[in-house]
Amino acid sequence: MTTDGMPRVHALRRGVPGRLPLVLLHGFPLDHRMWHDVTDLLPGEPTVLAVDLPGFGASPSGPDVAQALGADPAPSLEVMADGVAAALRGQGVERAVVAGLSLGGYVAMALVERHPDLVAGLGLIDTKATADDDAARRTRLEVAAQVRAEMRVDRVLGMRTTLLGATNRVTRPDLSERLERWTRDQGPLGLAWAQEAMAARPDRTQALRAYAGPAVVVVGEEDELSPVAAAQHMVDALADARLVVVPGAGHMTSNESPEPVASALQGLLARAQRADAAA
Ligand code: MLT
Repeated sequence: MTTDGMPRVHALRRGVPGRLPLVLLHGFPLDHRMWHDVTDLLPGEPTVLAVDLPGFGASPSGPDVAQALGADPAPSLEVMADGVAAALRGQGVERAVVAGLSLGGYVAMALVERHPDLVAGLGLIDTKATADDDAARRTRLEVAAQVRAEMRVDRVLGMRTTLLGATNRVTRPDLSERLERWTRDQGPLGLAWAQEAMAARPDRTQALRAYAGPAVVVVGEEDELSPVAAAQHMVDALADARLVVVPGAGHMTSNESPEPVASALQGLLARAQRADAAA
């Protein structure tokens, strides 16, 4: 396996050497740029790395990452996670605090399961550990088929509003405009592959039960896609998790209310740093 053909890791900030880096994994159908609102609020100490997942932003496609890994090319979050791990190791990162929003959270949970030594702290933001039910899986596969057939991203553009909470849908048109812009920048084949990968994902509650490190679970109170009950389910499965419920925000807490997300990640970094120093 080489590190060529691996996901692109953007160094948003070079922090104090010797500190655990923070690795950020974006949601669907976006790329690493969604994290800028949060990272602008983080203090200067940690190195901050934001990944473009396979098929998004500046990264190679899912099938190309699978080929570089020598893995099964079928769409999967396992390929995404293995690609992220290989890209990080290629940059000398053997241990990090990993945080992901929604799709990024699914990948973070796959990392915990498949690369537990890499994860010193786990941030799960507006995401869920459970698999799709049959209806959700069918819808994803229909969306993927339509996006592939049309070779356009239009079918997923409706997410520019459903990703937001009911309040911000009305009061923050600037946010839906940014979400639309970022979505239009993605390639249709990448979006289709990711939908198929999410449709195939297993329940990772057991992986959370097996993880003993520090974790934080953040959820927008108005998140309709990964609601508060899904966040509570992950907190219950984790040995050392804190729950942060963000009022007035939906699924995109990172952009609807970046302050509590930044402060949750700052707290997680401090806990992980202490736990690693004590080990
Ligand atoms: C996301 O924000 O990444 C998506 O809502 C994930 C999903 O479709 O399950």
